Amino acid sequence: MLVSAKEMLEKARDGKYAVAQININNLEWTKAAILTAQELNSPIILGVSEGAGKYMCGYKTVVAMTSAIVENFNVTVPVALHLDHGSYEGAKACIEAGFSSVMFDGSHYKIAENVEKTTELVGICNSKGLSIEAEVGSIGGEEDGVVGAGECADPDECKQIADLGVTMLAAGIGNIHGVYPANWAGLSFETLEAVKAKVGNMPLVLHGGTGIPEDMIKRAISLGVAKINVNTECQLSFATATRKYIEDSGDLKGKGFDPRKLLNPGFEAIKATVKEKLTLFGSVGKA
Ligand code: 13P
Repeated sequence: MLVSAKEMLEKARDGKYAVAQININNLEWTKAAILTAQELNSPIILGVSEGAGKYMCGYKTVVAMTSAIVENFNVTVPVALHLDHGSYEGAKACIEAGFSSVMFDGSHYKIAENVEKTTELVGICNSKGLSIEAEVGSIGGEEDGVVGAGECADPDECKQIADLGVTMLAAGIGNIHGVYPANWAGLSFETLEAVKAKVGNMPLVLHGGTGIPEDMIKRAISLGVAKINVNTECQLSFATATRKYIEDSGDLKGKGFDPRKLLNPGFEAIKATVKEKLTLFGSVGKA
């Protein structure tokens, strides 16, 4: 069964660790993330962007596939299926399709419209027992063709959105999706502290988890971050392992062209990356 992310995030916040959101792209990704969480007795959130949802043949397919994988392997750790950077319409479609958690990213709207739309979606999610993430201050980099500048969120606006009753809040603190450029200034802990001071107990979300140095991850967790999103790093591990398999002529040996063989090194590489993240974020053994 897929569960809301509320309880796992509150436990993480209180226990000073973070739950990983691992973005998924297909069956191999989903299986790798779920099995690794189960092996390490860790909670996990599976993130699905609108583009990935479309790629995987629609939100209903994603719900069916994910729930069936959980059932097939008798998974006992909490698994949440979460829409990543959802539009207003996308959030409604995922709620309808059976996601257990959604993010409504209204960061590009003026704050009044972000408040209005977030309020409506909070009402729907609360009535159905789903968790909901909101965002203030856009995250930099590119995701599904949307390019954000990597703003630092306004702490007062964060409080305004947090007070609407969302489960978790993503606040821009200079983080960027994708690989960080060599001249990246690092996370703004000053912003994170100011946001935390305004929003109190609200679990905070750190997007752009790929490539953030370990010391910054640990400091962010100590300052109230309870969920960290990772996408690009699994894509890079998958691509590197697949490239190696082909370059080593793995597909030309025996039945190495069989997709179940060809995709296996990439699958194992995703598992290794997820293991590394769950260990770094401190959620191992916390299911
Ligand atoms: P990365 O691709 O940088 O890991 O970011 C993932 C993310 O924040 C998804 O919302």
